[in-house]
Amino acid sequence: MCGIVGYTGFREAYPILIEGLSMLEYRGYDSAGIAMINDQGLSVHKDKGKVDHLRSITNQICQGGPKIGIAHTRWATHGAPSLINSHPHCDQNNKIALVHNGIIENYARLKDKLIDDGIRFSSETDSEVLAQLIGIYYEDDLEMAVRRALLEVVGTFGIAVVAHDNPTEIIGARKGSPLVVGVGENEMLIASDASAIVRHTKKVIYLKDNNIIKLRPDQYSVTTLDNHKINAEIHNIEWDADSLAKGGFEHFMLKEIFEQPETIENAMRGRLLISEGTSRLDGLNLVLQELRGIQRIIFVACGTSWHAALVGEFMIEDIAGIPVEVEYASEFRYRNPIIDSHTLVFVISQSGETADTLAALREASHKGATVLGICNVVGSTIARETHGGVYLHAGPEIGVASTKAFTSQLTVLSLLTLLLGRMRRISHSDGVTIATALSKIPEKVRQILKQNDHIRSIAEIYAKHNNFLYLGRSYNFPVALEGALKLKEISYVHAEGYPAAEMKHGPIALIDKDMPSVILALKDAVYDKVISNIQEVNARGGSVIAIASEGDTNIQKYARHVIYIPETIAMLSPLLAVIPLQLLAYHIAAIRGCEIDQPRNLAKSVTVE
Ligand code: F6R
Repeated sequence: MCGIVGYTGFREAYPILIEGLSMLEYRGYDSAGIAMINDQGLSVHKDKGKVDHLRSITNQICQGGPKIGIAHTRWATHGAPSLINSHPHCDQNNKIALVHNGIIENYARLKDKLIDDGIRFSSETDSEVLAQLIGIYYEDDLEMAVRRALLEVVGTFGIAVVAHDNPTEIIGARKGSPLVVGVGENEMLIASDASAIVRHTKKVIYLKDNNIIKLRPDQYSVTTLDNHKINAEIHNIEWDADSLAKGGFEHFMLKEIFEQPETIENAMRGRLLISEGTSRLDGLNLVLQELRGIQRIIFVACGTSWHAALVGEFMIEDIAGIPVEVEYASEFRYRNPIIDSHTLVFVISQSGETADTLAALREASHKGATVLGICNVVGSTIARETHGGVYLHAGPEIGVASTKAFTSQLTVLSLLTLLLGRMRRISHSDGVTIATALSKIPEKVRQILKQNDHIRSIAEIYAKHNNFLYLGRSYNFPVALEGALKLKEISYVHAEGYPAAEMKHGPIALIDKDMPSVILALKDAVYDKVISNIQEVNARGGSVIAIASEGDTNIQKYARHVIYIPETIAMLSPLLAVIPLQLLAYHIAAIRGCEIDQPRNLAKSVTVE
């Protein structure tokens, strides 16, 4: 999950590397480091802490220098965050420096052998094993040394390597951890994602697994690990650097919450066919007859994407009548799932790089399934390995807590439901009703966002509480899970999401005056049932914050606080109901003084198992 950036070209490398690291900090932020090549050889600076700390200790010494370097921001796997465990790592003779994202699974065995051979290690990391191996093999051909070393390791890697006596060349390689190369005019960049590159060039190459790239300022060459030449395709990044700025908001998360009217609109643009009461999803690469033949759908995802999948299950079963199963990718990959020729598998992932989801995709492909993706990051590994799919077009999501990607996923799932539903169960006029309701969602989200101050005032009342319950039923049960996840991720407050009625089978024991319940109580088929659940909470001294439908004055009798949202059809209500929960979590975390965009222990893209 770490962030990697490298530069070779005609400009000073240091500012480009430091700025690149700041863009990648969402991938990991417990330590950071930089290696450049100057007249004396390798110059390496690193420490525990964030990129700003690295900047403060290197600003004076690194300016005005080399035109080549590699840098890293870490999310610890092997070895605690510390100076010695920070990257870059060098071999014992300081011949090469390496930055690594991924896990070397056979590092312990390799390390023992290298120690027996007299190699001195200076860190507890798995990555240093790779650095030592490359150092052993390096004489004057860095690419060859990297290739030899990589053939000995088992695991995943995205790496960039430089050598002390080669002030123009960077070698990059990937297997399981993303790497993208920026192709500029007389300069090349390499990074774990395009956000560190886009300010300098929009021309990129997405490296594939088992590819090695040799970069010099004016040329590159790509080969496979077993040394076959590859003609790498150059892609154009379609978004620009401005979308990576906070745009006047205090945090990326808040900016991304407020972007949702536009991102939802973008997810349906050109796809929603209102007058035909259906949608058009060309990227699925399936002809309508193939879609008609589907008898079962499996959604596979993790975290917030898994919550979106749960909503998708309810939608598709309800409207299209196709049985759906929702699987945690991490479980699916180690089970022996039954996938017949009428089963369609969808993997859902914002980043398109989540290791468990990727492994599940591969497992389903091995079983011969057609696997489609719902992804945000264009060119990501999942997007490339699926047989087809739908992009979210939500733009880069920087805040670690996923917000706009979730509502874009729900939008795409609504479009999919519409498409499948019209083929099977619902009439043209029902299709038009759903499509029209969907087209109105962005404006309704805008209305909810206007209540930001009201939601903040509720957050002020509850910010000191340490336990919350989130309850919802039917379509809004997954929203309760998502609301609880948002709160725990960014404010470190314990929160449990539950189906409202399930509460009485256990969690009700927790309720007292110190445990507020956030309850989704919309005017839908389960409204009366949810009111009963609210009364159960009240009877035990708990206080209730209700998310309710506009115009429902009755709810005020039962809930201590009410946040109203505009009405829509039941299947689309999660798109609206989640917005106040995102804001509530945001404000509670802000009031508690938490690091909202970079919560402790988390990383944006979970590329380890
Ligand atoms: C929660 C969150 C995570 C991700 C999960 C899957 O806010 O961001 O739970 O949803 O790690 O990530 P993707 O969607 O990138 O596969």
